[in-house]
Parts: sequence; structure tokens; C-alpha cells
Amino acid sequence: MRSFSGRDILSLKEFERQEFHHIFEVARKMEDIARERKNVNLCADKTLVTAFYQPSTRTRLAHEAAMHRLGGHVTGFADAKMTRAGDFYQESIKDTVKMLEFYGDVIVMRHFQQGAPHEAAKWASIPIINGGDGWGEHPTQILTDLYTVLREKGRIDGLKWLAVGDMRMRTMHSLAYALTQYDCPITFVAPPDMSLLPEFKEELKNYNLNFREADHVEQAIAEADVILVEPVVQPDYTKERDERKGDAGRTPANYKITRELLATKAKSDAILLHSLPRMDEIPTDVDITRWSRYWQEAANGVVMRMALIALVLGKVE
Ligand code: CP
Repeated sequence: MRSFSGRDILSLKEFERQEFHHIFEVARKMEDIARERKNVNLCADKTLVTAFYQPSTRTRLAHEAAMHRLGGHVTGFADAKMTRAGDFYQESIKDTVKMLEFYGDVIVMRHFQQGAPHEAAKWASIPIINGGDGWGEHPTQILTDLYTVLREKGRIDGLKWLAVGDMRMRTMHSLAYALTQYDCPITFVAPPDMSLLPEFKEELKNYNLNFREADHVEQAIAEADVILVEPVVQPDYTKERDERKGDAGRTPANYKITRELLATKAKSDAILLHSLPRMDEIPTDVDITRWSRYWQEAANGVVMRMALIALVLGKVE
């Protein structure tokens, strides 16, 4: 297995099965530190740089919290408008990253342009972690989700998945790539104008992913062990910022997981994931049902980022 030391985390397409397993083993060790709310000194001599060109609550703060738990330092920006990349100069990724690499030891980048973290990785001499790039990928989120499944269900192989939402979404791409390494049939449910692109479906077939598509969650929920939901009412991820607020419409029943649907159609021991933020696709009365695991998923978000940061900085092998 390749070492993670010094590696970029850009895409799950690049991951091998045993690399997933290794990350999950390291995450399991980190989990006790996070659960006990301890800060250790594993990365006391290292600094994380956050370069966020698009809004984020979880991804940026989970990486920052992870670095604090590891005893390291954090610097960076949450709004590119306050940097030279967001003003008159429109400073390039190359020029920006050629500065940031002197300010820290690992960079986590979110960008509205697909491939921006890959471009950064071309120029940086320190590891780049992709915190979500346009409609591209969101590898650290899906590693978090798979780890949550492993912890909650005790295994990943053999579980049936239902993925609901906008299939242009970066999490869906990382999820599909990740599941090519597992024995996990998956059903995708999306509005027709947000369905899997033909070229992506072709790619998934070449990678032997066992998938099908359906029109309504009711057609697939009964057999699902893992239900992963994303919004269909959501911003344009290729924009720096979508200023619409609260008037973007409601989620049709086809793409909504309600308490009644879970109670009448879902497996009793299925688990429900959502990377958040949500609109109305999972009503808040689902939060206290036995299916919901999204708060656990959020907690694991810190654990997973601790593992990834420690691995790429060579602090654990
Ligand atoms: N799940 C996720 O990526 O959330 P943020 O957009 O808040 O980072």
C-alpha cells in the first residue's frame, strides 16, 4: 500500500480498498481522543492552512477542530473576497498556493471551480486536501460517511445503499467512486434534470459499480441498509456564492425521507445519512428517530479529518 505521508487527498477515484481500510483504522484510534474532548500534541509542530473560496460550516471547521485536537496550529481564509484572489487582482491558484505553502504544512481547499484543488496540488510542495470542488468531488465527506457506516453497522461490504438527491453533487461522485471498492449495490434517485450524466454512468460501469436508477424513494427504500440524502433544492455549486435565501422551492415527495416513510417502508435497522446543510428533504421530526445518524456523521467528520491530517503529515503510518 502506498504511504499517505506527503500525499494529496483529491479524489476517491484514486483510492484502493486497503487504503480505505487503513484510513478507517487510523480514524478509530483518533475517535477516542475526540470523544474524550482531549487535545494531544501529535501535530504540535505543524500548521493547517484553510483556503475556502466557497461557504462552509462543517468542512472548514471540522478540519480546524481536527488540527486543534491534534495540537497543531491553524491559519487561512474563509472568504476569498478578503484575499487578492477575490479582488481586483483575481490572483491565480498557482500564485496563491505558492504563498500558502510557506504559511503551513498542509492546505485544505474548497473551490467553486471543479479541479481547483488539483491545480493547487500541481504547484504546492505540501499536501492539498480537497474540501469540495464545484460539482467535482468531496472526498473527506464520503470517507466520513463510510466510516460512520462501518462504526454503526460493523461492516461496509454486503450493505445495500439508496442515494437520493442531485447526482451532479460532488458527494455523489465521491460516493460512487468509493463504492466501486466494496460489495455494495446502490440505487440512485434524482430528478430527471439532476440525474447521473451518461459519461459518469459509463465510467461507473467500467469500474463495475453495481447500480441502478429509480424515480421515487418508495421504489428503493425497503431494501436499503444505508440511506444517504442530499438536497435537490440547493445552490449552484459552480458559483462562489448563491445569494438566494429560503425561496428556492420545496422538495418533491420523490426525493424526501419523512418519518412516516421510514416507519412504514424502511428496514428497521437501516441508517440515514445526510452531510448537511439540509432544506426540507429530511424534516426535523426525523432527527429523533432510530434511523437518523447525521449527528454521529458530523462528529465523525472531526475524527476523519484528524486521521487524514495526521496521515498526510506523516505523523502516523
Ligand atoms: N457537508 C458539508 O460539506 O458541509 P459544509 O458545506 O458546511 O462544509
